[in-house]
Amino acid sequence: MSGGRIPGSRYFCTASKGLERFLREEVCLKLAAHHVEQVSGKVFFTTEADLKKLKSLKCAERLFLLVKKLPPIEMPRHKGKGVHVLQKYVIGESSKWLEVVYKWQSLQDLSKEQECTSDVTETGIKRPTQQESSETRKRPKLELDKPQATVFDGSPMGQCDLHSIIEGSCQNNAPIQSPPSPDELLNPKGRGAASSIHFRVSCRCSGNIAKSFTSQELGRAIGVALGREMGWKAELRNPMLEVYVHLSDIHCVVGIPIVRLPLASRDYIKSAGLRSTVAWAMAYLADIKAGSLVLDPMCGLGTILLEAAKEWPNAYYHGIDNTDSQLQMASANVCFAKLSNNIDLMRASVTELPLLTESIDVVISDIPFGKKFKISQDTKTIMPYILKEMVRVLSADGTLVLLLSQELSLDIQQWQKPKSHQSNKEKLTAPQDTDTTPTEPSSDPIEKVDVEDTSAAEKEQSEVKAKILASLVPMGIFQVSLGVTEASIHRYKKIPRT
Ligand SMILES: C[S@@+](CC[C@H](N)C(=O)[O-])C[C@H]1O[C@@H](n2cnc3c(N)ncnc32)[C@H](O)[C@@H]1O
Repeated sequence: MSGGRIPGSRYFCTASKGLERFLREEVCLKLAAHHVEQVSGKVFFTTEADLKKLKSLKCAERLFLLVKKLPPIEMPRHKGKGVHVLQKYVIGESSKWLEVVYKWQSLQDLSKEQECTSDVTETGIKRPTQQESSETRKRPKLELDKPQATVFDGSPMGQCDLHSIIEGSCQNNAPIQSPPSPDELLNPKGRGAASSIHFRVSCRCSGNIAKSFTSQELGRAIGVALGREMGWKAELRNPMLEVYVHLSDIHCVVGIPIVRLPLASRDYIKSAGLRSTVAWAMAYLADIKAGSLVLDPMCGLGTILLEAAKEWPNAYYHGIDNTDSQLQMASANVCFAKLSNNIDLMRASVTELPLLTESIDVVISDIPFGKKFKISQDTKTIMPYILKEMVRVLSADGTLVLLLSQELSLDIQQWQKPKSHQSNKEKLTAPQDTDTTPTEPSSDPIEKVDVEDTSAAEKEQSEVKAKILASLVPMGIFQVSLGVTEASIHRYKKIPRT
């Protein structure tokens, strides 16, 4: 156990749809994870990494110790029988539960040890504990992968830790004791003390099983059976131990969260903008190197810059936005994250950037869409001019990473195709194609001028698009979920001029 290592524990993380591949790469890179398995919404892995490393994962929503992963359960038609079958299936052998709870407690102890040693700064000043600091500031509420039955309420952990309860010594400030082994947990003394273990089951069900049962019904049934089998007590409000169960058509997964708050709710972000995990994935795709100049020309609250600067602190970051209120909140976020030395903010328009040509290594941006950030003109019409300016400031070989609505993503993909390849539907919906239907030339002079103007504007747009396409190499499109909507990350490299 020395050096904060738990030998070969199996974990899983939940991830937003589309981010699993980034999370898979992240666990391999940061945790030297092995036996990595990716399924929709989850990544399973084994690692010897310590808790600090585990907590450094940025693409994960939540992190769990794996209790078991089973094939999907086949439920009998009879509902009562179904509950019984499910209880047996999910609970199984008590020794497996004890083994995982033992590992979980060891991780908690190591985390406490690490906190104790890092409590005193180089100047001898005691740092506030995580609990103290989280009490003095309001956490931003992120949309999370919430279980449907019960959710963590963010309240502090129970007063005593599991070991002291198991060992019958529930005292605050008790010295950290070596954790009992699974054998000790199973002995009669341990068994008695186990009745003081307070737990709660959070159940999510989807697919076939959700047609016959609600998550609440299943969560309750599993909770009753687990309490009976292990001698643990159910405690809905402030349990010591959370048991997460996900029943779906793919699998039945049971885990214990290692940290109470989701990893995705960052403690360094004051006001949340874009989903932090998506912002991190965009920065991950951007090839940020030491000394890189990174620009977000529509930075909003600065989430992408914050995520990037926390992970790659040896680069220089610039945020631009044309809205004062957004910039004020971005500035508060930068101060709160203690990144004022890394991130500069400026008021300007993305279509007229006050920056030298080819002066930026990475341009990364979340293009506004949806009701909240609708830009004054139709985004499809203005997009070529936004991109033109982004490409102008981007250095040769530089990277461009954009988050686009599905509609805008498809539109940009059509830029590459000659007009004859566009479907009739696209011809009807795309604003630039509104006059592609052959019409008789009008004799009305006003109408004639309009048609000429439209075609001149179209011609200009086509030229701008062609220039942009000639400067960029597409390097991948990645579908991601933003909770209520889907979006696409586009990645490009700027072609060096010959
Ligand atoms: C989708 S939001 C960015 C959100 C940001 N990623 C965050 O996490 O907060 C788009 C931003 O673009 C800004 N914007 C709109 N038109 C702009 C323009 N012409 N120039 C610069 N910024 C613009 C809006 O003020 C808004 O803050």
